[in-house]
Amino acid sequence: MANKILVTGATGNIGKTLVNELKALGADFDVMSSKAQSAPNARVGDFNDVESLKKAFNGIDTLFLLLPLTENKLQLAKNAAAAAVAAGVKHIVRSSGAGADPGAGFALPKLQGQIDAVLEQTGIPTTFLRPAGFMQNYVTYQTQAIKDGTVYMADAGQAQSLIDARDIAAVAARVLLNPASHAGRAYTLTGGEAFTGVEAGATLSKLLGREIKHVSVPTDAAVSAMKEWQMPDWLIELMDSLNKIVSAGYASGVSPDVENILGRKPRTFTEFANDNAAAWK
Ligand SMILES: NC(=O)c1ccc[n+]([C@@H]2O[C@H](COP(=O)([O-])OP(=O)(O)OC[C@H]3O[C@@H](n4cnc5c(N)ncnc54)[C@H](OP(=O)(O)O)[C@@H]3O)[C@@H](O)[C@H]2O)c1
Repeated sequence: MANKILVTGATGNIGKTLVNELKALGADFDVMSSKAQSAPNARVGDFNDVESLKKAFNGIDTLFLLLPLTENKLQLAKNAAAAAVAAGVKHIVRSSGAGADPGAGFALPKLQGQIDAVLEQTGIPTTFLRPAGFMQNYVTYQTQAIKDGTVYMADAGQAQSLIDARDIAAVAARVLLNPASHAGRAYTLTGGEAFTGVEAGATLSKLLGREIKHVSVPTDAAVSAMKEWQMPDWLIELMDSLNKIVSAGYASGVSPDVENILGRKPRTFTEFANDNAAAWK
């Protein structure tokens, strides 16, 4: 049966690897970008513009939906849902987040759950990939801190089961290629073990040959710092909810879903660090 796939978020952390995985597996796929110039062969679609999405989703069977973290993310989801219905998309694989639940007591998983509910309400079969925090945050957000020798986190010394975004992409590729067998399923994607920031710092210290300290800061100090950096209030609220989840120890659970789908263990933090060492030198 024909299975034309569209990858949104194709230039991001997950999307970059997902494109390579799909190529290697011989999938029939296109990519979407909001900027024609950033990906020359992409279908152009902007989650803010339903009409552009309808065009981008035209002829697509299976949609990999990755929404950026914006203040209007719920509206972007509604736009994508409307366009998917109008274009006759047959299956949506959505990159969501761990703990997604519209009834959650924390802002970020609540938002992710509300978005998942919007997509379920389309009546289109869905599969939700719900990853834990990405190891890649050590590159995207912490590169300068690691170069300076100290990583600050509002984690109360608690462990997290961070996942390498390349493993999320590997799971996504398998699901996209065979969506019917994953319809109605939600997968929690974590690394194979939980580790603390101090343990991550020790791994980085050994790899880089210099000390990388980890300092835990209270969540209210993190909020003050985010205000000083002039982060917008909506983003501070979401990040603070994440800090509180981690500090309460709720981000340390390990799920078997990556290994069940890939038939191998998730990448370790040591593998991730070895593969990204150049970023911190
Ligand atoms: N970091 C974490 O620890 C973590 C954990 C769990 C879940 N998440 C979730 O994962 C997602 C981020 O994934 P990622 O890191 O792979 O992505 P990313 O690197 O932040 O990239 C975002 C992607 O969104 C696309 N995009 C941005 N604005 C757009 C628009 N208006 N219309 C269409 N596309 C647009 C960008 O492509 P163009 O610029 O080419 O359009 C880009 O490919 C977020 O939703 C976040 O909540 C993150």
